[in-house]
Amino acid sequence: MTSTFTFGDRTVKRLGYGAMHLAGPGAFGPPKDHDAALTVLREAVGAGVNHIDTSDFYGPHVTNRLIREALHPYPDDLVIATKIGARRGANGSWLPAFSREELAQAVHDNLRNLGLDELHVVNLRVMFSAHGPAEGSIEAPLTVLAELQRQGLIRHIGLSNVTPTQIAEGRKICKIVCVQNHYNLAHRIDDALIDDLAGRGVAYVPFFPLGGFTPLQSSTLSDVARSLDATPMQVALAWLLRRAPNILPIPGTTSVAHLRENLSATELDLPDEATALLNGVAANIGSSD
Ligand SMILES: NC(=O)c1ccc[n+]([C@@H]2O[C@H](COP(=O)([O-])OP(=O)(O)OC[C@H]3O[C@@H](n4cnc5c(N)ncnc54)[C@H](OP(=O)(O)O)[C@@H]3O)[C@@H](O)[C@H]2O)c1
Repeated sequence: MTSTFTFGDRTVKRLGYGAMHLAGPGAFGPPKDHDAALTVLREAVGAGVNHIDTSDFYGPHVTNRLIREALHPYPDDLVIATKIGARRGANGSWLPAFSREELAQAVHDNLRNLGLDELHVVNLRVMFSAHGPAEGSIEAPLTVLAELQRQGLIRHIGLSNVTPTQIAEGRKICKIVCVQNHYNLAHRIDDALIDDLAGRGVAYVPFFPLGGFTPLQSSTLSDVARSLDATPMQVALAWLLRRAPNILPIPGTTSVAHLRENLSATELDLPDEATALLNGVAANIGSSD
């Protein structure tokens, strides 16, 4: 299993870190413990993580400012990938923010809050439905992003919460280096897409790799974990790392103990029989599993 991937123009370790939960509950507001949030970020980078996923709509602005406080000046190899295309309502709701002005403002906000002159990766987070990817043209907002890229504010562009049709449309507008969609052991709608992107050298960054707000629960996962003397979360991450070489998981945690547990998933070699059992989990969801 390869342990690195060329992400844009940088080589990253395949297991990264998702910073969303460092903002308060629901990724809205300040963290309960500011110093603990800084510690998690420093531990992650200290342990070799060089891909952090964030957005200025976490908080809003809270997570990016924590990243800056904890890690700036950044190590040369660190890729900070952010997302634009949404804003937060006063009650924490997630609202689309796709106008030219909103997108440009979001890029400038990210630059300022992260303390960067150029954003390494910006994902256009598409939001045509509250229930996952939905068809609709992304030409107008992606054209704005491509212009901001030409101005030197963005190095690489990715897409999030998108369909294969939208990715094909996007490829005609600019180079797409990554796709960030919901995917894990139990949610495998993107299986064919992942293989297609792997053939093109495009990173697939699964969000909710551990199940997100509803952590993965499966008797098969627990049984396999027990048999390997590992935890279910480690097995879920090891399964993703084995699934395809372009998968770059970004598990999120506010806990140093969970961070260490998750990072050691790279040392877990899944035997073929365990992988076969885990491959059946998605099919069994909704039955006894
Ligand atoms: N593009 C998008 O639309 C989108 C949407 C959602 C998320 N994201 C990105 O994807 C990243 C990952 O998603 P996510 O953080 O929501 O979901 P996740 O990584 O699947 O799960 C995170 C949850 O699992 C818990 N957890 C983490 N490690 C654990 C462990 N070893 N044992 C037990 N529980 C553990 C965390 O709680 P503790 O804090 O207690 O560890 C947290 O509640 C986010 O941080 C964000 O950057 C993107």
